[in-house]
Amino acid sequence: MNKDKKRFTLIDNELKKEYQLDGIKGSTGPDVINIAGLYKETGLFTYDPGFTSTAACNSKITFIDGEKGILLYRGYPIEELANNSSYLEVSYLLMHGELPSESDKKEFENTIRNHSLLNEQISYFFRGFRRDAHPMAMMIGVVGALSAFYHDSLNIEDPEHRMISTHRILAKMPTIAAMAFKYHLGQPFMYPLNKYDYTDNFLHMCFATPTEDYEINQLYSKIMDQIFILHADHEQNASTSTVRTAGSSLANPYACISAGISSLWGKSHGGANEAVINMIDEINNSNLNPKNFIDEVKNKKNKIRLMGFGHRVYKSYDPRAKVLKKSTEELFKELKIKSKELEIAKEIEELALEDDYFKEKSLYPNVDFYSGILLKALGIPTTMFTPIFAIGRTIGWLSQWKEMIEDKEFKITRPRQLYSGEINKNYKKVVEREKKSIFNLLWLKKTFLNNQ
Ligand code: CMC
Repeated sequence: MNKDKKRFTLIDNELKKEYQLDGIKGSTGPDVINIAGLYKETGLFTYDPGFTSTAACNSKITFIDGEKGILLYRGYPIEELANNSSYLEVSYLLMHGELPSESDKKEFENTIRNHSLLNEQISYFFRGFRRDAHPMAMMIGVVGALSAFYHDSLNIEDPEHRMISTHRILAKMPTIAAMAFKYHLGQPFMYPLNKYDYTDNFLHMCFATPTEDYEINQLYSKIMDQIFILHADHEQNASTSTVRTAGSSLANPYACISAGISSLWGKSHGGANEAVINMIDEINNSNLNPKNFIDEVKNKKNKIRLMGFGHRVYKSYDPRAKVLKKSTEELFKELKIKSKELEIAKEIEELALEDDYFKEKSLYPNVDFYSGILLKALGIPTTMFTPIFAIGRTIGWLSQWKEMIEDKEFKITRPRQLYSGEINKNYKKVVEREKKSIFNLLWLKKTFLNNQ
């Protein structure tokens, strides 16, 4: 990797000194400048809010070319995997680096199947939540709580323990998400049935009831599996970086994945799929039309973003969105129904792609733009969109966590800062301090009463 090493020179004009920095080449994509020794040598930090130009790790899992709209899992194009593979096969690929042989595939699927059940005590955790709790809130709590149950495999320095935890988390995530869904509905939990494969089992746990037979629609299951594949990994996004950061302190994987779910929930990240449908519903139910709405977005004073558009890395069409758009159109064709939401989405896309504001900023549809419309057509309620993203992303979080722990260069994550606060202040007794009205009593009262 370090062949044809490039060297860079940093010149301090004031001190009239030069520092040599090594370049490192990856297998593809931008090279990096190795600044790991910079502070020791120069007493300087680099400054990069939001990590727009910083490679935080060296990874072999996923590659994105944002200019060309390319996404590779372990070297394989996302389109090929999404159209030919299955989520568990892709999980094996991400975790182990290569597609499994037939017997490895079978063994892996059986292992995951055997871990789908939760310790019965865990169902009591759900009962502590309010019925109107968001399923993501329940998932954060319950996944974190798994650390209290599986003490037999929490030594993360032991590769076998790491593997068992990984299998458990991957297998139990659909069970937890489905329980959150059932609890939200007020319906009894459905146990996993291990005669089903991973995705069929998830649909069974979401939609079956003890009183009725439930037949799994194979078209819906295929689409759901494709959705899981498309969300499985996306290199160093916010939630994956969160998992890596949490794991860098040697925290247990259940705690780390719970941190990842928390980060995913935000509407700039995985929460965008829910926000897209809310945005389309708002357009549909108001006197706005897509054109007016685009104008509202372009008026910066409104601070409205076109949800499902734009990406830190993609400066072209997100390849995942292309696959999802095609699947959405195919599903509606197959079901022979028209979707007002799909019509509005397509109109928004057409207008935005022709508009100078979006063109100049290279804003294109991302994975969240069509996924919500597709999920809604499968009968999934809006609040379950982000939990479904979380199920899919689980294998990416786990693979990146494992890669980090096994990395020779592994260190606790500890960014530095540019301090711009005050200095050299002296402590004053409380009676000597100026009065500042920090608490607004009315606000406090209102908030307190609303949360009862
Ligand atoms: N609508 C309108 N303007 C936008 C949008 C948008 N969706 N996204 C970016 N911009 C503008 C932004 O206002 C800024 O303009 P200016 O240069 O005039 O200040 C410029 O584009 C650059 O934006 P940024 O916020 O600096 O870009 P970023 O790379 O930090 O943000 C993003 C990336 C995904 C947070 C952002 O594009 C966004 O908020 N999109 C909407 C939310 C969304 O769809 N998120 C899902 C992301 S993909 C799946 C995932 O990661 O989970």
